[in-house]
Amino acid sequence: MPPITLIPGDGIGPEVTHAVVRILAATGFTPEWETFSAGAEAVKEHGTTLPQALLDSVTRNKVALKGPITTPIGKGFTSVNVGLRKALDLYANLRPVWNLPSVPSRFSGVDLVIVRENTEDLYAGLEHVVVPGVVESLKIITAAASERIATFAFEYARRHKRKTVTAIHKANIMKLGDGLFLESCRKISTGYPDVTFNDRIVDAACMHLVMHPEKLDVLLLPNLYGDIVSDLCAGLVGGLGVVPAANLGEGGVGVFEAVHGTAPDIAGQDKANPTALLLSAVLMLQHLHEDDKAGRIMSALKVVMASGHVTPDLGGPATTTSFTDAVVKAIEQG
Ligand code: NAI
Repeated sequence: MPPITLIPGDGIGPEVTHAVVRILAATGFTPEWETFSAGAEAVKEHGTTLPQALLDSVTRNKVALKGPITTPIGKGFTSVNVGLRKALDLYANLRPVWNLPSVPSRFSGVDLVIVRENTEDLYAGLEHVVVPGVVESLKIITAAASERIATFAFEYARRHKRKTVTAIHKANIMKLGDGLFLESCRKISTGYPDVTFNDRIVDAACMHLVMHPEKLDVLLLPNLYGDIVSDLCAGLVGGLGVVPAANLGEGGVGVFEAVHGTAPDIAGQDKANPTALLLSAVLMLQHLHEDDKAGRIMSALKVVMASGHVTPDLGGPATTTSFTDAVVKAIEQG
C-alpha cells in the first residue's frame, strides 16, 4: 500500500483526522501516513506556512488527506489552502452534495455535484491600493483554465452517467471575464453530445438551488461563485459537517478534505462531526480504486446515522470519539 500524506490541520482538524484514520484502519486501509503540519503550526517548526517537504510528499505520493487550516481574516499570512491548490495545480474542486439517510435537512432528493475552478478568478490574490481608500482586486479568467475545468466537468458527467452540466456565471454584467468562462464551457460542451449543457446566472441559480435543488445535476463554476455556492449547497443537506471535497490535478494528484473550516468554537471539546472528512476519505478510496473499503464505510455510516448516535451539530448526543467508536464497530460487525 503506497504512503499517503496526512495534514491534520488545526482547530478541530486533528480530532476529525484522528477519527477518520481510525475508521480507515478498521477497513484494513493502513498506509504509512506521512504527517505534516501546515499554517501557523508549520511557521513555528519550519518558518513557513507551507513547508517544501509537505509539497514534496504530496507530489511523491499523489494523494493527501487534509484537515482544515485557519486563515487569518484581513491580515496575516495568505490562505494555506489556496497556496496548496496553486503549488500543486489542483485545478478542480469536486464537491458531491447528497442527502445522507437520517440527517435532518430542509430538502430531500438532493444529488448534485459541484465542479469549481480552483486556480484563478478573484482568488489569484492580486490586490493593490490604488490611492488611499481605493483598492483594486483583479479577477483573472483565462480560456485555458476555463476549458480545462469544463473538460473535467463533462468527463466527470460522462463517467458518472450524469445527464446535465450547468455553467454558472454573471456574464450579463462581467461580459468579458464571465463571458469568456461561459464561451469556454459552451465550446467544450460540443464535444459531449451525450451530456445536456445549459447555463444560469449566479443569482438566479442560487434562488433555484433553494427552491428546487433536486432538479440540478452537475454545476460548473468559476472559483468565487463555486466557493459560495458550495457552502449554500452544504446547507441544503444538513450543513458543513456532512459534505466532502476533493481537490484534483493532472496525473491523479488529489488532496481530499472536508468543506468546513477549523470550527474554533468547538475545537478541543470532542464535539466535532468527522463525517465530512470521512466522506472525503471515501472519495479518496474511490480515487484509489478501493471501492470495497469505500462501500464498507458508507454502509457503516448509514447504520450509525440511522441509530441517531450522531454529533450535536446533527442534533445527537454523540461525541467525536463515541461516534467514531460506533462507526468502527459497525464496520467490524458488517
Ligand atoms: P467553520 O466551517 O470552521 O465553522 C462554521 C460553523 O460550522 C461553526 O459553528 C462550526 O462549529 C460548525 N462546524 C464546522 N465544521 C464542523 C464539524 N465538522 N462538526 C460540527 N460543527 C462544525 O467556518 P469559519 O468559522 O468561517 O472558519 C473558521 C476558520 O476555518 C477560518 O480561519 C477559515 O479561514 C478556516 N477555513 C478553512 C477551510 C479549509 O481549511 N479548507 C475551509 C473553510 C474555512
